[in-house]
Amino acid sequence: MFEARLTDVATQVAAHLDDILADYPDQRVVQAMRYAVAGGKRLRAFLVIEGAALHDVPVARALNAAAAVEALHAYSLVHDDLPCMDDDDLRRGLPTVHVKWDQATAVLAGDALQTLCFGLLADPATHPDGAVRADLVASMALAAGARGMVYGQALDIAAETADQPLTLDQITELQAGKTGALIRWSAEAGARLAGADVAPLGAYADALGLAFQIADDILDVEGDAEKAGKRLQKDAEAGKATFVSLLGLDGAKARARQLVDQACTSLDPYGTSAENLRQAARFVISREM
Ligand code: IPE
Ligand code: IPE
Ligand code: MG
Ligand code: MG
Ligand code: MG
Repeated sequence: MFEARLTDVATQVAAHLDDILADYPDQRVVQAMRYAVAGGKRLRAFLVIEGAALHDVPVARALNAAAAVEALHAYSLVHDDLPCMDDDDLRRGLPTVHVKWDQATAVLAGDALQTLCFGLLADPATHPDGAVRADLVASMALAAGARGMVYGQALDIAAETADQPLTLDQITELQAGKTGALIRWSAEAGARLAGADVAPLGAYADALGLAFQIADDILDVEGDAEKAGKRLQKDAEAGKATFVSLLGLDGAKARARQLVDQACTSLDPYGTSAENLRQAARFVISREM
């Protein structure tokens, strides 16, 4: 049921992104953009669509925002995989963009995916009210930038060469930026589109985002690389402190379960209509990719 719904959202968002990029010139950088936004679980898009549904915003009205966050996420992955960052050659089961093309193309495709995100959010088709669009743009700028995702990525890279391994508090701060900020934006977007209070979805997303990153760290240790579609055991290799290195595998799993319960409880104000989002929280820690 949940998996079918996630697949359905993934298909719709992929088709929408295809439509958008069909209008672009068929050049190397655009080919790389199309390649980079393809695939993935589309969890962020799912959060946008379900958060919107919770506020009676139909899927068609939320698709631009969903596509926007997936474009930004794809940019973050293309850059994350570069030799100067994590130096990965596999993503979503395929060669990374800089391996398939070259580093310059990967940098540029990432840049253009980022501007595509903001262009989509500013598009009148996203919402008829300019104030709502400005709110989506400004909140995304915060989530993606040097107080959000970029901040977390910078802390993550710095941690690789730090003298001391990070503490649990430091890792939690890193995560809140690196993964948490975009997940939070995604969960809140539906409320923004409806002009509603973002607080319950924000609380849900904070717990969910942390659980998501703990699951990513657990996957890195004991996941199946084939299923994950990316290289694993990279964190230990890089001598990185992660939730697993700090809490142990069992401790990390227990913490993730606790966070999922917390995420589900945050949705109490919505009653049973938030069941899809509760299932998304459970999925985040049971996933194999
Ligand atoms: C991977 O994100 C990178 C992290 C933020 C940990 P996802 O696991 O959501 O990647 P895709 O989009 O499904 O490939
Ligand atoms: C990447 O985190 C997070 C972002 C791109 C913002 P990771 O480096 O842990 O992600 P994977 O493990 O390569 O997917
Ligand atoms: Mg990384
Ligand atoms: Mg990485
Ligand atoms: Mg990882």
